[in-house]
Amino acid sequence: MKLSGKTALITGAGSGIGRATAMLFGREGGKVVVADVSSEKGNETVRMLKENGDQGMFLKVDVTKASEIENMVKAVIDRYKRIDILVNNAGFYDRGTVVTTTQEQWDRVIELNLKGVFLCSKMVVPEMKKKGGGVIINVASSSEHLLCSCFALIESSLLNSGA
Ligand SMILES: NC(=O)c1ccc[n+]([C@@H]2O[C@H](COP(=O)([O-])OP(=O)(O)OC[C@H]3O[C@@H](n4cnc5c(N)ncnc54)[C@H](O)[C@@H]3O)[C@@H](O)[C@H]2O)c1
Repeated sequence: MKLSGKTALITGAGSGIGRATAMLFGREGGKVVVADVSSEKGNETVRMLKENGDQGMFLKVDVTKASEIENMVKAVIDRYKRIDILVNNAGFYDRGTVVTTTQEQWDRVIELNLKGVFLCSKMVVPEMKKKGGGVIINVASSSEHLLCSCFALIESSLLNSGA
């Protein structure tokens, strides 16, 4: 059990890569905090964790909102007293060239893929420091290296995040 005694906070853990990460961390003995904007999806991940006999809790959070992240961090500390691992996974992308991408698509990706990662890291790092350290994993995309015109949006957000 590699994560025994560790608490892992995973954003966007209500589906896809975030849910798969939650299941893996749970199997390794970690206490998993499933943070997602969707209660239905997040609660389903926690149900799956518990079905396996693993530990987890759901917190509803929109990672683009500072006040919600602040409340999320407080709730994790209240329950588990520490955060050892933060997985910045909540993210989104649309296909589109620089010409076809709309301003709304651009704003949504920048808010979620950049500001969300910044705000979660900003608020979790002080808690990690109190306990002597921690690990942050930023989920990105291999599209960053493809430099394909149809992925203009995600390439821009990843290149600028330094992920
Ligand atoms: N799946 C892929 O092929 C792929 C490829 C490249 C990069 N990625 C990246 O991997 C990450 C996960 O991708 P996925 O395909 O598993 O995604 P997904 O769409 O299956 O899951 C994303 C989760 O994030 C949640 N979410 C959305 N907005 C949120 C918000 N504001 N606050 C909190 N939660 C929010 C959703 O409810 C959902 O549960 C993303 O960052 C994505 O950009 C995925």
